[in-house]
Amino acid sequence: MDFNNLLLAKEEMVAVVTINRPKALNALNYETLMEMRACFAALQEDADVRVVIITGAGEKAFVAGADIAYMQNLAPSAGKAFGKLGHEVMRTIENFPKPVIAAINGFALGGGCELAISCDIRMASQNAKFGQPEVNLGIIPGFGGTQRLPRLVGKGIANELIFSGNIIDAAEACRIGLVNRVYAPDQLLPECRALATRIATRGPGAVRLCKEAINNGMEMDLARACTYEADLFAQCFSSLDQKEGMSAFLEKRAPNFQDK
Ligand code: CAA
Repeated sequence: MDFNNLLLAKEEMVAVVTINRPKALNALNYETLMEMRACFAALQEDADVRVVIITGAGEKAFVAGADIAYMQNLAPSAGKAFGKLGHEVMRTIENFPKPVIAAINGFALGGGCELAISCDIRMASQNAKFGQPEVNLGIIPGFGGTQRLPRLVGKGIANELIFSGNIIDAAEACRIGLVNRVYAPDQLLPECRALATRIATRGPGAVRLCKEAINNGMEMDLARACTYEADLFAQCFSSLDQKEGMSAFLEKRAPNFQDK
């Protein structure tokens, strides 16, 4: 599959999607979002891929936001369509039936920060910078930032970041729970790959149900969420992978999961 603004590489059950517009610091324009939508649709069907990593091309940026040049002269109706497409891509990633890891290798601003927080796990390089600077442009975050950021880091911290447009560094992002870990720039992708490969060897159906349980359960009250978890737990016992995982443990060998 060929794209103008994305690179796609697959190795050992892990796909790496690289947003590839380094001259514009990988800003998300309409075409890039359409390509991301198509790319994730293809990866969903690809049985050889169990985990996806998203990163940015070059050494400076993960994604420096939605494309300001593209947005500059949009009429409200076109702005609405652009926002809807951005939301659709972020939701696709959030609900993607395989884990998605953001390898944040530089600026993650505006739509870039929103892309990162739509992923399941965020890892950053020491030079990464985060923020929702939309208010500097006379707009609000438009790809889910006002909704996902408070859910991730708490309302008070999200208010401060979104109202001020302040940019924070990777250490601060780690302190507030916006990223899980911070690595030296040359270690970021190897570390993300190592984690992705480890996840890829686990029961794929079980990992998928874990993501569903966490994402959907967090939107429910605790009692309903626990009932929901119990239903998903029961569902595992109709899978061959449950038989394989438990047999392998008792036979003291590595499991060979088939996603069945
Ligand atoms: N959109 C379009 N182009 C962008 C861009 C963006 N979000 N961010 C950077 N670029 C372009 C610059 O225009 C510049 O292009 P030229 O070389 O053609 O002039 C190139 O990338 C390099 O950028 P700078 O020269 O500005 O690099 P710098 O190192 O001096 O600054 C930066 C880096 C602080 C990230 C700065 O580029 C910047 O502030 N970018 C904008 C960040 C921003 O406001 N993002 C939010 C966008 S709005 C949004 O995302 C809405 C939403 O929620 C959906």
